[in-house]
Amino acid sequence: MKLSHERIETNSWLMLVLVLLVVCVGGLVEIVPLFYQKSTTQVHPGLKPYNALELAGRDVYQREGCYGCHSQMIRPFRSETLRYGEYSKADESVYDHPFQWGSKRTGPDLARVGGRYSDEWHRLHLLNPRDLVPESNMPAYPWLEQAAPSADTMRKHMQALQTVGVPYSAQDYSAADELMKNKTELDSVVAYLQRLGRY
Ligand code: HEC
Repeated sequence: MKLSHERIETNSWLMLVLVLLVVCVGGLVEIVPLFYQKSTTQVHPGLKPYNALELAGRDVYQREGCYGCHSQMIRPFRSETLRYGEYSKADESVYDHPFQWGSKRTGPDLARVGGRYSDEWHRLHLLNPRDLVPESNMPAYPWLEQAAPSADTMRKHMQALQTVGVPYSAQDYSAADELMKNKTELDSVVAYLQRLGRY
């Protein structure tokens, strides 16, 4: 029996199977090489795992859904690199589980926001963005000042990350208590933001 166009187009099950086959082959050709390419498997030189305080800030960032308005992925276009800095590469995000790439940008991209503002600016901005940027529609996060992240929880979190390949040292674990002493969730988010794009 001949596999004519007409036969495929009038038989939806056959069409479905063939479409799936094509998508699978296309997907494999695009995805498999990424597992072997240097640029996607090697760690950016100088990249260090987040310390306990930064990691706590990252947790808050995810809990509060900051990613819903902020991508952390600068695309390789001139308009983007002029505004945000060097475009993002996969080797910068190997310790990010889950990574924060994306395309949703109600607010600016934050991949390289570290060092752009002072800690105090971030603190005031998170407590009430409109105090610094009157036209801002970013929500205020006043409760971050009231809660304290726990070093013990972060150590467990670091352990979990270690099982997926993040190279934490014994020193990283023991440093957690000192780093997180008297720190609020607000301090941790600021530490995380200041770290972004800086190694
Ligand atoms: C509803 C969307 C929205 C959410 C959710 C949101 N933001 Fe924003 N963010 C914005 C907008 C819009 C701006 C630009 C105006 C401004 O600076 O306030 C902004 C600006 C910023 C800036 C300054 C960036 C720059 O380069 O000037 C930082 C830092 C920031 N947000 C961090 C956060 C963090 C951390 C969270 C979560 C706790 C968060 N945002 C949640 C919309 C949002």
